[in-house]
Amino acid sequence: MSDGHAVRAEGLEKRYGGKPALDGFDLAVREGTVHGLLGPNGAGKTTAVRILSTLVKLDGGRAEVAGLDVARRPREVRARIGLTGQYAAVDEVLTGRQNLEMFGRLFHLGGRRARARAVELLDRFDLTAAADLGVGKYSGGMRRRLDLAASMILAPSVLFLDEPTTGLDPRSRGEVWDSVRALVAGGTTVLLTTQYLEEADRLASRITVIDQGRSIADDTPDGLKDLVGGDRVEVVVAERAELPRVVKVVARVCEGEPETDEEALRVHAPVTDRVAALTEVARTLQDEGVAVEDIGLRRPSLDDVFLRLTGHRTGARTTEKEAAAA
Ligand SMILES: Nc1ncnc2c1ncn2[C@@H]1O[C@H](COP(=O)(O)OP(=O)(O)OP(=O)(O)O)[C@@H](O)[C@H]1O
Ligand SMILES: [Mg+2]
Repeated sequence: MSDGHAVRAEGLEKRYGGKPALDGFDLAVREGTVHGLLGPNGAGKTTAVRILSTLVKLDGGRAEVAGLDVARRPREVRARIGLTGQYAAVDEVLTGRQNLEMFGRLFHLGGRRARARAVELLDRFDLTAAADLGVGKYSGGMRRRLDLAASMILAPSVLFLDEPTTGLDPRSRGEVWDSVRALVAGGTTVLLTTQYLEEADRLASRITVIDQGRSIADDTPDGLKDLVGGDRVEVVVAERAELPRVVKVVARVCEGEPETDEEALRVHAPVTDRVAALTEVARTLQDEGVAVEDIGLRRPSLDDVFLRLTGHRTGARTTEKEAAAA
């Protein structure tokens, strides 16, 4: 079933206490690519990663990693993968170098090879200058990079990264992204889970969207962004009575059809030249004396994708009203 795919899952099922965490989950990751698994809290991302990395058993369906069935050949799968969990696994008291040497010994590399591998990885992840500093003194981004390095000790052919940048500041996030790109340039296949459309867009050549344990979309980043219509200008007013005037201005300046959210007193429309459109909308509204509460540019988020695909936002499950209508 592998045919050029480093990871393949068909109809994966996993239940916890009778409740499905995965409910017929499908996935196909091409060799040598970064594949994004995008979904909100509780969607089943970590469960999928844990099954694929043989940490938990599946209840139904089947999965192959590096051409090997995860249920039947877990040991061989484990020899070919790396995993960076949602929470950092490195020891705070040890230095970066000591951490990597320790992981090397855990993987039976032997003292000399473990030391040499640590030096290589510290260099690869730009941590040489901080090699002999206690990890307790590392920034969030440095820690995540060390985590990545630790999962690369055996140069795995498939690497699972579970929300590698959640909680990091933008600069650290950028550093982790660079490291992931370097890994893939070296031939590793990466499955990356994330709650950020932007992150999946920056790194992945293909994205699977997961909701309630099922894949609800599988597309390129551009395909998903097209679905939600790219960047938007957004205007919020204080008074409902102002909405029609704002719609008129936005329609005149922006390329796309404006949409109105009556409840949030919000008008938004797609734009291509982001800054020019924003400036023009702001100036025209001011010229016409429209009282504006807020105005800005918004990049499409996971929330926007969800709204289009499922009709609800990521946090909101079906309300009673929607259930009655369905
Ligand atoms: N060990 C477990 N025992 C019981 N329920 C679990 C367990 N692991 C996960 N679940 C449940 O399975 C569902 C999917 O959880 P999972 O951790 O896979 O989601 P996630 O997409 O990784 O979420 P997050 O973005 O918050 O990490 C959730 O409803 C969760 O509560
Ligand atoms: Mg998770």
